[in-house]
Amino acid sequence: MPISDHQASKTLRKLSVELIDASIKSMFNHDEKRQSKFQSEAAGILVDYSKNRINDDVTKSLMELARQSNLSDAIEAMFSGEILNNTEKRPALHTALRSNGSQPILVDGQDVVPEIKDTLNRMQAFCEKVQTGEFSGHTGKPLRTIINIGIGGSFLGPKLVSDALKPYWQEGYDLRYLANVDGTDFIETCKHLDPETTLFVICSKSFNTLETLKNAQAARTWFLQSGATEDKIQHHFVAVSTNIAAATEFGVSAENMFPMWDWVGGRYSLWSAIGLPQALVLGFDTFKSLLSGANEMDQHFRTTEFEHNLPVILAMLGVWYHNFMDADSHAVLVYDEYLKELPNHLQQVDMESNGKQVTRDGKKINYQTGPIIWGGTGTNGQHAYHQLIHQGTKLIPCDFIMPLQSHNPVSDHHDWLFANYLGQQQAMLEGKDEASIIKELVSKGMDQSDAESFAPHKVIPGNKPCNSIIFNKGTPEVVGALIAMYEHKIFVQGVIWDVNSFDQWGVELGKVLGNAVFDAINSGETEKFDGSSADLIRRFRDAK
Ligand code: F6P
Repeated sequence: MPISDHQASKTLRKLSVELIDASIKSMFNHDEKRQSKFQSEAAGILVDYSKNRINDDVTKSLMELARQSNLSDAIEAMFSGEILNNTEKRPALHTALRSNGSQPILVDGQDVVPEIKDTLNRMQAFCEKVQTGEFSGHTGKPLRTIINIGIGGSFLGPKLVSDALKPYWQEGYDLRYLANVDGTDFIETCKHLDPETTLFVICSKSFNTLETLKNAQAARTWFLQSGATEDKIQHHFVAVSTNIAAATEFGVSAENMFPMWDWVGGRYSLWSAIGLPQALVLGFDTFKSLLSGANEMDQHFRTTEFEHNLPVILAMLGVWYHNFMDADSHAVLVYDEYLKELPNHLQQVDMESNGKQVTRDGKKINYQTGPIIWGGTGTNGQHAYHQLIHQGTKLIPCDFIMPLQSHNPVSDHHDWLFANYLGQQQAMLEGKDEASIIKELVSKGMDQSDAESFAPHKVIPGNKPCNSIIFNKGTPEVVGALIAMYEHKIFVQGVIWDVNSFDQWGVELGKVLGNAVFDAINSGETEKFDGSSADLIRRFRDAK
């Protein structure tokens, strides 16, 4: 059913008219319990959502909307392996990858838990063999530089994990990422590499992705040009894929191949063997801790009533702003250098999952679905795009994310980081009005009429919504829980919007047309292209 037809949506529409200009600050003044009421905690993560344009009626109606959208059934359907991805006829079972394996999980009537356990055991054994040198380079040297070749979900989530857990890296390892088909990425990533100590992990669910295949071939050529013979490839190339035949053809031997499954979406795959490069540098125990943190969030999501359920709360707040208050983007602002890849990862997970224009049964949608996700690290963003958040004409709900303890205490830096974290949120909440600005300017000696004409430029309207998300320290468990929290938030929104969050047909056409352009570069036949494209192809050919 379209979101607009639910009874709760009608109430929410009325409430949105009442609340569009209601002062969040005065709601705090009138309710001393507001902050504790609009706060929830799970798996080491606390979400304070009191600085939103909401009141009790809004949260009640949002949760009502979740119930009217049969969210509980959808959650159960996901965890139990029902075919949620109806266009590809697959379940979405990333949660199974981090479950404790005590219950069978059936796909096509077959329990997948033993395969998952077996793969984890193989990953663990491989990590140990690389660490001890039992699996070494072809000249017997230990493999200590790992190159993750992959793109999209085989790059963004994995990179987030390895960056976020940098303090846990094992001594002596380096991990680099090769994703883009731009030759510069290849040259810069492979600069100063020692072929004898480098291990390439080709991460591709399909083993059919242009960028990944081109980079894998370039790496292979580079390796052979270093003087190694073909039979040595197996010492330096391993693969993670569902496509065993293609990986074998590339030269990866069966024992160096790790499986993936159709029932794990690329953007949800960091928990699978796609996480092998990260497990290698982190050590397998740390990788397991990441999975167990995610599992704790899964249990919270599956069993907690909506009113205290972090992913549900975050999702429904997003629905409130995007469907009832005309917001079209959402900012993820991380006050933790280690989490700098979180906005990039969430761009893929959120925008590839919920950037959809038809319902699950193919009907055209006439309401807003997936928001534009953007963001970056605080305090850097404060000197860039926060201007637009504070004084621009757009409503941009923000998540402010920060650990209370730093992995790297330096002087009073962390205190300053927190001061900025909160200072920004206060500026969003309180703003600054014209009268007090004029008063301040005059008190500093400015002429009254100059102060009056200057003041409008300094006005900060305030009343901008945000969530404060905090945790003690960025441990593997917390990082796992944080990523899982956002995955589930996105899932909930997909249920409310009635879209298939697990396919991505929108990315296909560009790939096909890219092939046609590639052919035209070589043939020079540009007749079938529009005038602009034909001209650009000609210019490209001339410059070659
Ligand atoms: O960009 C489309 C996409 O299919 C993503 O969903 C996926 O994560 C990425 O390409 C990489 O795919 P693969 O792991 O199959 O190489």
